[in-house]
Amino acid sequence: MNNSNTTKETLLKKIKNKTAIVAVIGLGYVGLPLAVEKAKAGYKTIGFDIQDKRVNMVNEGKNYIGDVVDEELDDLVKKGLLSATTDYSIVKEADFIAICVPTPLDEYKQPDISYVKNSTIEISKHLKKGAIVVLESTTYPGTTEELLLPILEQGSGLKCGQDFYLAFSPERVDPGNLIYKTKNTPKVVGGVGKDATEIAAAMYRNILQGEVFEVSSPKVAEMEKLLENTYRNINIGLANEMAIICNKMGINVWEVIEAAKTKPYGFQAFYPGPGLGGHCIPLDPYYLSWKAREYDYHTQLIETSGIINDSMPQYVVERSSKILNKFKKALNGSKILILGVAYKQDIDDYRESPAIKVIENFEKEGSIVDYYDPYVDEYKYKGKTKKGIKGLTKEALKNADLVVITTSHTKVDYEFVQANSIYIFDTKNAMKNVENRNNIELL
Ligand SMILES: NC(=O)c1ccc[n+]([C@@H]2O[C@H](COP(=O)([O-])OP(=O)(O)OC[C@H]3O[C@@H](n4cnc5c(N)ncnc54)[C@H](O)[C@@H]3O)[C@@H](O)[C@H]2O)c1
Repeated sequence: MNNSNTTKETLLKKIKNKTAIVAVIGLGYVGLPLAVEKAKAGYKTIGFDIQDKRVNMVNEGKNYIGDVVDEELDDLVKKGLLSATTDYSIVKEADFIAICVPTPLDEYKQPDISYVKNSTIEISKHLKKGAIVVLESTTYPGTTEELLLPILEQGSGLKCGQDFYLAFSPERVDPGNLIYKTKNTPKVVGGVGKDATEIAAAMYRNILQGEVFEVSSPKVAEMEKLLENTYRNINIGLANEMAIICNKMGINVWEVIEAAKTKPYGFQAFYPGPGLGGHCIPLDPYYLSWKAREYDYHTQLIETSGIINDSMPQYVVERSSKILNKFKKALNGSKILILGVAYKQDIDDYRESPAIKVIENFEKEGSIVDYYDPYVDEYKYKGKTKKGIKGLTKEALKNADLVVITTSHTKVDYEFVQANSIYIFDTKNAMKNVENRNNIELL
């Protein structure tokens, strides 16, 4: 048996008998649920974050992510299976290191890979022989081999595939999804070499219930994640374009989609709305278009769907203007109540939320805008904080010239909204079950 075989067998053994120590870098929407699953499976898990507040909360057994069960987190911390730190030197203890840091865009919609780069530099300083590093953040094809591999080799002085292993395995968590969680969602793994794939896959098979699907390289795994999210982005773009056309033709787009859904094959329903939100669907396709330019290819579908989706917040304001016009009112000076600033139903995440752009566009026109969101008391945007109203009262509804629904939170009593509002523009079909519809207009 040569040296690298011994290293691999030792790591596989540690994974099997659960003596491997796991590090999760970045304790956000992806990292914290993953750290909890690893600790629940019996691995001693250490979470790393640059935010002291998050690290302190974890160490106190306090949860801050919707998909994590409060009691489970507390219990794992008490049992000593889960802890958190800002101190990267502790990476030297870890056998399995998962990177779950943000991959946003900069102001020119170009990949901001600095979080991945900085965390990898820190890991490289403390990486021990025989460990595996797995990148889980969504990114462009080539990141693992072109960016992480040289940083890790240089910083550690170790050789990839011989002294340590490296793989990419995209995270698919869908915050707020009641059926599919980190635990039961199938996972794709692509390593630098077969050994890395085998080791990473062995770990995921030990902790997850979902299928673990092995691919031939990190690039395939990086690209498949971009295919998943680009597919959603483009199909939502199509749904938004259908909404615009249907409105011009006097057709209810929501009824059209329900009808199309009856086809048992070849059609998957996507829905229109005020635009795209969240840390994935609006951003990830631009990682692909940026990388494609290196190969003299200009992605056309991504750009086109970006044009449609990015125009939706302004489209919502224009449609609202037409509604107000019927009441002889102008956008300037009208009172608008926005229902929902989270980017999707029943969660508190407002990153990239189109509702915030809708509010901005209304305010630019001189409208007086309040918002209500049962999950988001206040939000920060372009350096300013906007506070929501505390309760959805009769007065708040009656006081608004127009109520605009931008998130379909199920906690909201839509019968009550209908009964007490002058007029409602529902961009999410949140009021589909409300019978009296004489003051409701749909996107
Ligand atoms: N949120 C989702 O629904 C989702 C789903 C699938 C994939 N992803 C991908 O997963 C990745 C993480 O997304 P997220 O939503 O969990 O982000 P997040 O912002 O919720 O969490 C990231 C965490 O990383 C920390 N961090 C930043 N730099 C760090 C560093 N150098 N060292 C240690 N910690 C650091 C941040 O403080 C933060 O707590 C992204 O690439 C995203 O595209 C997200």
